[in-house]
Amino acid sequence: MSSELPVVEDESQQIHNHVGHDHSIPHSDSHGELPMVESDGHNLESDRPYYACSYCGISNASCVVKCEICNKWFCNGKLGNRGSHIITHLVLSKHNSVSLHPDGDLGDSTLECYNCGNKNIFVLGFVSAKQENVVVILCRLPCAQQKDSNWDTTEWQSLIEDRQLLSWVAHHPTDEDLINASSITYDQIIKLEMKWRLDKNATIEDLEEEKEVEIAPILMRYTDPYQYQRSFAPLVKIEADYDKAMKESRGLNYISVEWSLSLNNKHLASFYFSTSDSADLKVAVGDEMILRYDGPELDAPWEGSGYIIRLPDARQEEYTLEMIHSAKLQKPPIHITNRFTAEFVWKGTSYERMQDAMKVFALDSKSISEYLCFKLLGQDVPDVFFEVNLPEDLSIPKMPSLNASQLFAVETALKSPLTLIQGPPGTGKTVTSATIVYHLTHMYKKEKILVCAPSNVAVDHLTEKLTKMGIKVVRLVAKSREDVDSSITKFCLHELVKKKAKGEFKKLIKLKEELGELSASDNNTYFSYLRRYERDILNTCDVVCCTCVGAKDKRLDKHKFRTVLIDESTQAAEPESLIPIVKGCKQLILVGDHQQLGPVILNKNASQAGLRQSLFERLIVLGHTPIRLEVQYRMHPCLSEFPSNMFYDGSLQNGITNEDRQVLNSSFPWPIRDTPMMFWAVYGREEISVSGTSYLNRVEAMNVERIVTRLFKDGVKPSQIGVITPYEGQRNYILQYMQMNSTSTNKDMYADIEVVSVDAFQGREKDYIILSCVRANSQQLIGFLRDPRRLNVALTRAKYGLMILGNPKALNRDKLWNHLLTFYRGKGCLVEGQIDNLQLSSIQLTRFQPKSNDFINSKPTRSTTSFDAASLVSYEGSTFGTRRKNPLLDDSKWPALDASGGAPGNFHAHDDDTDTIVSYSESSELHNTHRGNGNPSEEIDEYDDDELANNIKKLTAQFGGELVF
Ligand SMILES: Nc1ncnc2c1ncn2[C@@H]1O[C@H](COP(=O)(O)OP(=O)(O)OP(=O)(O)O)[C@@H](O)[C@H]1O
Ligand SMILES: [Mg+2]
Ligand SMILES: [Zn+2]
Ligand SMILES: [Zn+2]
Ligand SMILES: [Zn+2]
Repeated sequence: MSSELPVVEDESQQIHNHVGHDHSIPHSDSHGELPMVESDGHNLESDRPYYACSYCGISNASCVVKCEICNKWFCNGKLGNRGSHIITHLVLSKHNSVSLHPDGDLGDSTLECYNCGNKNIFVLGFVSAKQENVVVILCRLPCAQQKDSNWDTTEWQSLIEDRQLLSWVAHHPTDEDLINASSITYDQIIKLEMKWRLDKNATIEDLEEEKEVEIAPILMRYTDPYQYQRSFAPLVKIEADYDKAMKESRGLNYISVEWSLSLNNKHLASFYFSTSDSADLKVAVGDEMILRYDGPELDAPWEGSGYIIRLPDARQEEYTLEMIHSAKLQKPPIHITNRFTAEFVWKGTSYERMQDAMKVFALDSKSISEYLCFKLLGQDVPDVFFEVNLPEDLSIPKMPSLNASQLFAVETALKSPLTLIQGPPGTGKTVTSATIVYHLTHMYKKEKILVCAPSNVAVDHLTEKLTKMGIKVVRLVAKSREDVDSSITKFCLHELVKKKAKGEFKKLIKLKEELGELSASDNNTYFSYLRRYERDILNTCDVVCCTCVGAKDKRLDKHKFRTVLIDESTQAAEPESLIPIVKGCKQLILVGDHQQLGPVILNKNASQAGLRQSLFERLIVLGHTPIRLEVQYRMHPCLSEFPSNMFYDGSLQNGITNEDRQVLNSSFPWPIRDTPMMFWAVYGREEISVSGTSYLNRVEAMNVERIVTRLFKDGVKPSQIGVITPYEGQRNYILQYMQMNSTSTNKDMYADIEVVSVDAFQGREKDYIILSCVRANSQQLIGFLRDPRRLNVALTRAKYGLMILGNPKALNRDKLWNHLLTFYRGKGCLVEGQIDNLQLSSIQLTRFQPKSNDFINSKPTRSTTSFDAASLVSYEGSTFGTRRKNPLLDDSKWPALDASGGAPGNFHAHDDDTDTIVSYSESSELHNTHRGNGNPSEEIDEYDDDELANNIKKLTAQFGGELVF
């Protein structure tokens, strides 16, 4: 298709650039090819024209669009709030380019960037000519960013709005079209998409009725480890199967492959993706991929697999696979370069390790002490204490001196076989954990301690704290993560091996690095050395740090650990925590906070049956009292006020003062001096990201850059700033935007700023946090921003200042966000306008009728009860315990919770949500994904549906709140 086609110059087909003016575009009449309608009103499949919507059969030429990847047609009609059929298809199938019908308004054309030819519909938008009445299609980055004298590029708008193509691109179906359409549910669409992967011609009639599977929920108490295993194993399996199905449905678009030969005569396949695509895919060296070809140049389809040996870096976008050779396999078709597809091979290692751990727990009585075994099963056993000589002074040189409750936690943990430590953000849970580990290494000189957390980020964080105390730590990372650079790389086992290597081994390492491979005999020598070095290093260290899943690493097989500490343990599903525990644990310390993000469970049924519950939470419900930490040392007191009242019943106290967090000579335009917080109302719109599975917001990204620039002016260093956002699409966009808009002299400074997903920032802190909320649409859907636990994490990362960027119109309808906005307004910190001239925002906020015990602007109430186990049960939805009086829960009707059938927190991907999933299996250890490197599973989520809208309506009616738009 010619790249000039999108410019419509024919007089009769001029396009107005105002979306609202689509009525001025001539409606083409139906071109005679109306769907055949049987007397009973049903369409006859076979009688439909070739371009009928593959979902619903609508075949009005001006409403349908062809997917260029699979050649199927789809209409631009909407299904509830989920998006039009064509967009739904593109998102679910990961296809992304389309062409229009010859009889439509714009004629037969493939939509592509006028400038660079990019066909990804998710990045395309239009701008109008300054002179004539024509528009041109340009991609969001880089083409729409370039200044052009002919085109008004600042007015660029996406071709997709509210998950539907603009109506001048493809009409929305008429009422008549809709009457003739066959009905199809979203569930059916998902199943159909799955089916198409195996059979391109499948239709809705081919879908079988699926039986609802009954899943037994987990129990509170178990008679023996067998019963325990029988209870959890099926849930882990369901989750694994689900994850697998989702992962496998993530095929890529057509790619071009360049073939070459490696030194040892293996075929190498190299291919490119666009930057953002690759950033959306979480892959690591060593991952297996399948390449396929079933185009016209071969008689039969070809398929082969290989391992990734090279990933794109900052300068190039090439992936290289080393193809697996085998006599049985067909040789790669190296004469062909186009129309390949590539797919990732799913690895279920983390699920297998969970299943293994449960088996070991059941079969091996030495896997865990009897006392802990009883505790885990929920049986009553009298409390016991170890007889130990506690060090006289529990504080550690060069570390902040601990407060009374922290000291109490340390002392108790050292004496007890099982300790739970709970506390809001910044209360020193991680510092306390590190102190405990420090003393344990001195008390048990011969024993190694296993220190874990569910995510790589949290493990790294803890490793750093431990090494600062002078403890001999080895950080064990999965083989596939060995080349992921981090601040603690020098403590990683593979790095320590390299550093210690001598003589022949050292030479072999060098040779391997230079050549990429070794001869068979050299390889054997290399590995025997490697194992010996690894063994020696592990034998002489005091502490091993790894993720929970990583605790089952082969290199630790011979090691037993009498003491296990798990930080962020509320983020792990119970079978995941079990992995480190069954390595001989006699003393267990679990640290966590139930009000921060919980485990990511993809399958709704498994989640609801209890897989979302952490061991930490179950133990508390069973009556095991945690030690609570309540004094925070992170945030400026103005920043802890809202989270304290909202999420912790006002119980969070400040261990630091305003003066401790005062910044002298700051020129940053905080709305209120000495109150370093602001909600900057910006009115951009959300757009679907390149991958089709996430969102971005350009206006917010632009303003993030402005804030950063202002902070630099004050001499703030990049390492002091963290930009966090719930959406991966926005994360990528901000990274790109900041690179494009920085000058060459300060490029490095912008590049050094961490831009991370909220989920990946759990447990961490920065001096300044900029939070970009992203969501802004006419339906006021805010997706997984509604999770109170995610908001809590986001609000509690900053030490000196917090800037929130968001669209209050979109956020204000959610009660939780409404409270936040009201709070910021009350403080005089809800502003809008230009950064150098911020004004108090005059936006009207929905007024939820104040309830008698409304907490906003009321004095924090110090909780007087000692400890109430039920308060640790996650918001709503728990099968255990009753709710504590928590301001959040008083209204008992949180749409976020009700809409998902009572699922709390981090449950953000569902069976009708195939577009949204990043595999969990690869998450924690094996690959470099959300929990590893910091991405939540994505993101275009199911809460955005009619149910939500209804809920909001109901809610508003119920509280007598007025609706303000
Ligand atoms: N007793 C103390 N005195 C001074 N500073 C402290 C004390 N305890 C902790 N801190 C500081 O408070 C900050 C937060 O501590 P830490 O990260 O351990 O909190 P946390 O409870 O683990 O938070 P999160 O819930 O976010 O993981 C750190 O900067 C730490 O150095
Ligand atoms: Mg912590
Ligand atoms: Zn398609
Ligand atoms: Zn349709
Ligand atoms: Zn372009």
